[in-house]
Amino acid sequence: MTASEALSTVVLVDDDPLSLALLRHLVASLPGTRVVTFGVPEEALAWCLANDPDLVVTDQQMPGMTGTELVRALREAPVLRDLLILMVTTVQDPETRREAVLLGANDYIPKPLDAVEAGARLRNMLALRRASRALARQAATLEDEVRRATAAITEREHEAIVRLARAAEYRDWETGAHILRVSWYARLVARELGLPTAEQDVLFRAAPMHDVGKIGVPDYILLKPSGLDDLEFKIMKEHTEIGHRILADSDSALLRMAATIALTHHERYDGTGYPAGMSGDAIPLSGRIVAVADTFDALTSERPYKSEWPMGLAMEYLRQNSGTRFDPECVRAFLGAQEEIARIRRTFPDTHGRTTGRPLALVAPPDAEVRFAV
Ligand SMILES: [Fe+2]
Ligand SMILES: [Fe+2]
Repeated sequence: MTASEALSTVVLVDDDPLSLALLRHLVASLPGTRVVTFGVPEEALAWCLANDPDLVVTDQQMPGMTGTELVRALREAPVLRDLLILMVTTVQDPETRREAVLLGANDYIPKPLDAVEAGARLRNMLALRRASRALARQAATLEDEVRRATAAITEREHEAIVRLARAAEYRDWETGAHILRVSWYARLVARELGLPTAEQDVLFRAAPMHDVGKIGVPDYILLKPSGLDDLEFKIMKEHTEIGHRILADSDSALLRMAATIALTHHERYDGTGYPAGMSGDAIPLSGRIVAVADTFDALTSERPYKSEWPMGLAMEYLRQNSGTRFDPECVRAFLGAQEEIARIRRTFPDTHGRTTGRPLALVAPPDAEVRFAV
C-alpha cells in the first residue's frame, strides 16, 4: 500500500449499539478504512485529540454530551483542524442539521440509514480527506526541495568564495588556516556585539575574501621579505580597492559584504587608515570587525619576516590601539572571548607556512607598524 493509499481512520459515535453496529458494518465495507467506535461522546473526544483521525461520524441524541456539542469541541481543538465531521440526524430535524453545519460539521447522513446514500457520502468524505492529505504531503515535499536547493546554492556560493580566497592566498605568505581563523574570530566578535545569527553567518562567509585583491599586487611586493618602501607600500595598499572591484555590484548579499570588507579592513578608527581614511562609525562594522580579527591573526602567526607573537602580547597590542587603530567596541568584544580564541587557534593551526628559512625575529611590540601582510 502506498502512502497515498494509507488507511483512513473513521470514528463512529453513537449510544445506540444497534445503530453503531450498522454504521460500523457500512464503513468497514469501504476500502482502506479503519473503524473505531464509541458509545460515549466524551471518550470519543479524548481519543480524537490523542489520535488525529480522518473522519468522525456522530449521532445527535446521546446522554451527556450531544452530537452538536461534540462537533463544537472537536472544532475548538487546533490539532484537529483538518478533521472531517458527519452528523447523523433525522430528516425531520432540520434545526440540528443547521446548528451542526454552523458549528463546523461538513455534512450529514439522514436517519434511518440508507446504505447506498450513506455509503456514497462516506466515500466522498474519505476521498476528499485523502486528496487533501496528498496535497499537504506534496506541498511539504516541494518546500523541502526548495529548502535543499537553496542550501545547495548557498553552499556552492560559499565554496566559490573560499576557492577565490585560496587563489589569492597562493600568492601570499598567508595560509588557508589564516582565512579560517579570521572568519571564526570575526564571527566571535559579531556574536559578542549581539548581531543576529544570520548576520554573523554572512560575515563568517564573507571574511575569507578580505585580501582577495592581493591577486592584483605584483609578486616582488607581495613576497618581499623585508619592509616595503613608500612606493611599494602604496601599491600594496591597492589590494583593498582591487578586492572591492572584484567583488562589488553583486546581487548576492554575501558578495556585497565581502566587497565592503575587502575595501575597508585597513581603515582605522581614528581616520589614519586606507584607502579612504574613513573614521569611527563611518567605517562599515564588517570592516571594523575584520580589522581586529585579521590583525590579531597576523600578529599571532609566524611569517617569513617575523615570529609568532604570544597571544597575550597580541591582545595587549589590540588594547593599546583600541580607539585609535581599532573600534573599541570590537576590541572589547574580542578580548572578552579569550578562551574561544585559544580554541580556534588550536583547531586551525598553520600546517604549511611558506617561510624563507631565515632566522625569525620578534618584531618590536606593540607599537610596531605592521606593514606586511596584515
Ligand atoms: Fe589586507
Ligand atoms: Fe589577512
